[in-house]
Amino acid sequence: MNYYCLEEFPVLSESYIIEGLGAEYKLHNSGAHTDIRAKTSFDGSTFMALLRENLGDVTCMWAMYRPMSILDWHTDPGRKCSINIPVKAHPAAKTFYRKRFGGAMYDVEEVKYILGKPTVMDVTKPHCVFNGCNDERIVLSMSPIKASFSQTVDFLKNLRIESY
Ligand SMILES: [Fe+2]
Repeated sequence: MNYYCLEEFPVLSESYIIEGLGAEYKLHNSGAHTDIRAKTSFDGSTFMALLRENLGDVTCMWAMYRPMSILDWHTDPGRKCSINIPVKAHPAAKTFYRKRFGGAMYDVEEVKYILGKPTVMDVTKPHCVFNGCNDERIVLSMSPIKASFSQTVDFLKNLRIESY
């Protein structure tokens, strides 16, 4: 399993979505893993406190992907998994894992995202983001620093919350 979509979770509240859509994004240049990010008040949420109690150190940020852009194949430095909540995403914005078929040919698996709900991703495996539309993709991204993908999924898959 490469990812786990938390379909039973509630949709992120309107106030956070508005924050993400209107946030001030800045280029964060860290060599191989440059991203475009903004700070979020979600850092002080009940959900982040719950994650920290159970998974140790966790950070969070808004991440923005430009219109008609690709984030090339990579693994994430500094975290083993991510918990991503897309708040703005066109159906043409897609995240993939890949498995080599032969030579330069790969089969791809598309990551299932539900707008406003979290998906846990194993970011130790190569993945890419293809935003093939004329709109930005905006994601609230949480980063457990030490917890693995399976630890994070095991904790979250049976958790039932009514809000964040
Ligand atoms: Fe990544």
